[in-house]
Amino acid sequence: MSHNYQEAVNELSRRGYLALDIDPTLNFEEEIMKLKKEKNAVILAHYYQESEIQDLADFVGDSLGLSQEAAKTKADIIVFAGVHFMAETAKMLSPNKKVILPDLKAGCSLADSCPAPLFKKFKEKYPDHVVVSYINCSAELKTLTDICCTSTNAVQIIESIPADKKIIFAPDRNLGKYLIKKTGRDMVLWDGACMVHEIFSKEKITQLMHRHPDAKLIAHPECEPHILENAHYIGSTSGLLKFTQTDSASVFIVATEAGIIYQMEKASPNKTFIPAPPDNQCACNECPHMKRNTLEKLYTCMKYELPEITLPDWVIEKGKYSIQRMLEVSAKAGLGKP
Ligand code: 13P
Ligand code: SF4
Repeated sequence: MSHNYQEAVNELSRRGYLALDIDPTLNFEEEIMKLKKEKNAVILAHYYQESEIQDLADFVGDSLGLSQEAAKTKADIIVFAGVHFMAETAKMLSPNKKVILPDLKAGCSLADSCPAPLFKKFKEKYPDHVVVSYINCSAELKTLTDICCTSTNAVQIIESIPADKKIIFAPDRNLGKYLIKKTGRDMVLWDGACMVHEIFSKEKITQLMHRHPDAKLIAHPECEPHILENAHYIGSTSGLLKFTQTDSASVFIVATEAGIIYQMEKASPNKTFIPAPPDNQCACNECPHMKRNTLEKLYTCMKYELPEITLPDWVIEKGKYSIQRMLEVSAKAGLGKP
């Protein structure tokens, strides 16, 4: 690459992704597979990614599975087809590897609802509390956290904290309320939420249930309590997927981001999956952040190895303990991938 060309690439990268003129006749799938081999790269994709990206990934999973993969991979480059906090987590767990994200602006409304400087002040009011943070938070917030959790291991993480210890839970108020109910622990909650999981309409779900009396409502714990109280099953994305494979029902109303339905249909082609309807007419149960990643951006990001996730050393040093502790508790409980 010439110096000027490199500068142009860097500039585009700073804007969030590489919008370069690329040959539209390219077979992106083939090119991506070639680059993966050439560069010893691994593609980790979340269940909310477009199906074509999921199909190219070496591993498709939930937040826990993805962080377990990121911690143990032997690849030189981790290509994270997910959102920013997930790629940051991968960087903290594998700081010597290059971590790239197809679109740097693929953020998370839940992570954004808890800015670290505000949380620091909030935490000062509860000096004797243990801080448990949902992994959907910034790297800086992880530096203020004692132990992280995901929706797969949240109950076990809370239960790993001695009963006499008080707890702050951040940033998701819905998952927090669900955990208070499940574990009986009293927790101080940060008032954050995910824009996608707060969009579901109880009224429209009830109408659907009348139309499909044998259907089961399955929901992610990021949903609001009035949705969760009617759910037949509540769980993480991998939990929901597993439930649809093992349960005898043949129709499921799915209250989480619609991307997971691709794997549900693949695993159980004879079952019917209905996305839980949102409050209005928009496609709001698709996460606009997750969907920023496209096949084209995946290709340019692997070709130029940009945009890259970088973090200050102190953030990695201080923040990684909260994730490593989470992985230790999960391994003891036999959760996620071995
Ligand atoms: P899990 O895949 O860990 O259930 O969480 C999903 C999520 O909130 C990502 O937005
Ligand atoms: Fe964040 Fe919600 Fe999108 Fe998940 S679905 S990445 S919690 S905004």
